[in-house]
Amino acid sequence: MARTFVSREIFPEYIEKIEEETDAEVWKDELPPPRDTLLEKVRGIDGLLCLLTDGIDGELMDAAGRQLRVISQIAVGYNNIDIPEATRRGIPVGYTPEALTQTTADATLALMLTAGRRVTESERAVRAGKWRTWHPLHYLGQDLYGATLGIIGMGRIGLEVAKRGLGFDMKILYYDIAPREDLEADYPLTFVDLDTLLRESDFVSLHTVLDESTHHLISDDAFSKMKSNAVLVNAARGPIVDPAALHRALTGGQIAAAGLDVTDPEPIPMDDPLLTLDNCVIVPHIASASVATRREMSRISATNLLNGVRGERLLTCVNPEVYDR
Ligand code: DGY
Repeated sequence: MARTFVSREIFPEYIEKIEEETDAEVWKDELPPPRDTLLEKVRGIDGLLCLLTDGIDGELMDAAGRQLRVISQIAVGYNNIDIPEATRRGIPVGYTPEALTQTTADATLALMLTAGRRVTESERAVRAGKWRTWHPLHYLGQDLYGATLGIIGMGRIGLEVAKRGLGFDMKILYYDIAPREDLEADYPLTFVDLDTLLRESDFVSLHTVLDESTHHLISDDAFSKMKSNAVLVNAARGPIVDPAALHRALTGGQIAAAGLDVTDPEPIPMDDPLLTLDNCVIVPHIASASVATRREMSRISATNLLNGVRGERLLTCVNPEVYDR
């Protein structure tokens, strides 16, 4: 029987499936296995189901051994995995695109509304007994309706955020490595360069992958171009934003607010100065966390794992070129 390691609990019906078909070990702690433990647990396995909190590199693949046939990640992002290294070794890497697109787009809108309309700040004030009257000048925020939404990264999630923005009568600007003429044929989306997007947008929403070109893409220079009423939303990856620059922008009035699903590092340390700011909404990387979506992510990642150990093609593979050999 093939051996597998599942680095955290997923929906139980899919754990059962994995246990029926393989000799499986499941890491049941809430926290990720420490690095040394992970290296030990993968020794001799045929398949690994992993999370974005696990570092999957050449050292880990060596520790697993040459029989490792599949790495199945339960996420759409895979910046924690050394893909070229897996490809070099002919190991297919599974991921879960599509499954979380709508749920993440919903959560992005929730962050835009929450940060823009000061929901968490005013809710905290109510609980602290500070709701003393209705005042014409209290808790004034930013409207989504009619505002300009700048989307950085017009992929699957970016497009769904754009569609929701159109429902709020927003004007949609976007920036990506190339214009998406295929999408522009169907939706009123305007491709602009990054500076124009930053200068003209009331909401800036990040939907790019994290790599060397996007690391700290939003830093002091970017904030200096943004509007003072702008709201920045990041539901992509924390390191796309320079956190120190974000703190300066939020305290110096360069932008109005931020809504973060992701931080750098994660979890955010309790002494991080961003946590002291009322105009910074921070949630713990929950953009894909709906019951239906996490169930579907469990199904896809379990199927990819089992297909991989059987030597069958994965449902969704980051590096399908491994099959061309
Ligand atoms: C992903 O899938 O990459 C998200 O960050 C977590 O769902």
